[in-house]
Amino acid sequence: MSKRRRVHNEEGGRGRTDGRTWAIGLCLTVAVLFALASLQVLDVPQIGLTEPHKTIQKANVAEALLRLEKNQKSARLERTALEGGAPSSTLRAEPTGHLDGSVAGAPSTTPPGQSNASEPEMIWYDLPRRSPLNAQIDLVIAAFREDLSWINVMMEPMASDFALRLYCKGDRLKDPRCLRIDNFGGEEYAYLTHITHFYDDLAPITIFTLGSIYDRGWDWLKCRKLNFVLSQLDTPERRQNFPGFATMAHTKPDSFHEFEGFFTLTKYQNHAGGTKTASCRASITPLQKWFEAFINVSLAKARHTGVLYNPIFAVSRERIRQFPRSMYERLLREILRCTAKEHEGVAEAGHYLERAWKPMFETYIKDAYKCSGHFGQKKGDLACCNQTKTVYIELPWTICSESRPICSGFVDGAGWGTCMPADLGERRDTCPEGIRMKPK
Ligand SMILES: *[C@@H]1O[C@H](CO)[C@@H](O)[C@H](O)[C@H]1NC(C)=O
Ligand SMILES: *[C@@H]1O[C@H](CO)[C@@H](O)[C@H](O)[C@H]1NC(C)=O
Ligand SMILES: *[C@@H]1O[C@H](CO)[C@@H](O)[C@H](O)[C@H]1NC(C)=O
Repeated sequence: MSKRRRVHNEEGGRGRTDGRTWAIGLCLTVAVLFALASLQVLDVPQIGLTEPHKTIQKANVAEALLRLEKNQKSARLERTALEGGAPSSTLRAEPTGHLDGSVAGAPSTTPPGQSNASEPEMIWYDLPRRSPLNAQIDLVIAAFREDLSWINVMMEPMASDFALRLYCKGDRLKDPRCLRIDNFGGEEYAYLTHITHFYDDLAPITIFTLGSIYDRGWDWLKCRKLNFVLSQLDTPERRQNFPGFATMAHTKPDSFHEFEGFFTLTKYQNHAGGTKTASCRASITPLQKWFEAFINVSLAKARHTGVLYNPIFAVSRERIRQFPRSMYERLLREILRCTAKEHEGVAEAGHYLERAWKPMFETYIKDAYKCSGHFGQKKGDLACCNQTKTVYIELPWTICSESRPICSGFVDGAGWGTCMPADLGERRDTCPEGIRMKPK
């Protein structure tokens, strides 16, 4: 039912005149697809598509699966545009050239062996230090021209225990709090700029978010994602015991999204019905090869953790610094390969990186992450999570391990569940009134 409401909300948003109208159109298309899936017209969890050897579908869903696959193919670009691209596209406007404070070609710590003449130089900006310096949390925002009045509303529970790092891409925002950077890439350009520039000076916890929290798409999805992250950090105890990474991968706290190793982004449709534009290809494709070349994390882990779209997450300093600064610099230079106007700033590597954050920072657990059963269950047992039909556990490796024993969210037609800690804790994945009720 809530999926239907989502569709309704998007229709309500259509009259808006800002540049998001096209994105809302896409939302609508994709939301309808997902709504169909949730009504079981498509009738299968989205599994087995990317890991053909491990398919668990029974014969009677094969046809539905084929249909789903076909739909997914046509939806893939749009979905990418929506879930990964929409925020980025808001940000990815025309590059504006160097702005105040940008210094090209400052020293890189990348070992010479890794350098490549075709890779651009890092851009180092002269950015002020974080303030207050002793704040426990940095709030890193990738902004382009969004309404940012949500900051005060959303951050109220943090009191003054955070430092705002507002990265304004280009010169559209006149906010005095702006840390001005070039309008290159999507949100990842701001995130990587922060990490590379403040690698030695990171806050104990950094929250990374898009600026477009007032986006009404998918029932305020971005707002709900940020609120969920904040709900893990809103008391001194929670900040103290922060496990190192928190995110809501998609529409609910236990959403699981497959790491689709063969994902590529060759073309990009920048609004519903618009002409397709060639994207700027990553230096290595598809996703899994790129991932192996750029991120020092095993593919096995990526398949376990799955990915997150609309990258809004909190991560500890230790998790960021488990990788050397040179890795982030290399990623940044990969993004900088794609600043030419003919691609409208759409870089395949940006979409790859979006899929890499969760595997990079999520806790590594050897056993199941995506799941169909709780810890202690066995192959052949009834699957967990309130299935409306009789479903049995067929794959032992989708049974949760002791360290995250609860399988949550494996519901009909909505993909795998995710193994969660025994204490699920508060799951505040709503968007606060103060945001939703703001007059347009
Ligand atoms: C530099 O990049 C090009 C194109 O991506 C690649 O063909 C070449 O092998 C690279 N050279 C080195 C030394 O890495
Ligand atoms: C990759 O990570 C492992 C530890 O997880 C480390 O031993 C290794 O040196 C790293 N490799 C590179 C190239 O950074
Ligand atoms: C199981 O499904 C029923 C009917 O949809 C719902 O009322 C109930 O809250 C669900 N229980 C859990 C634990 O999700």
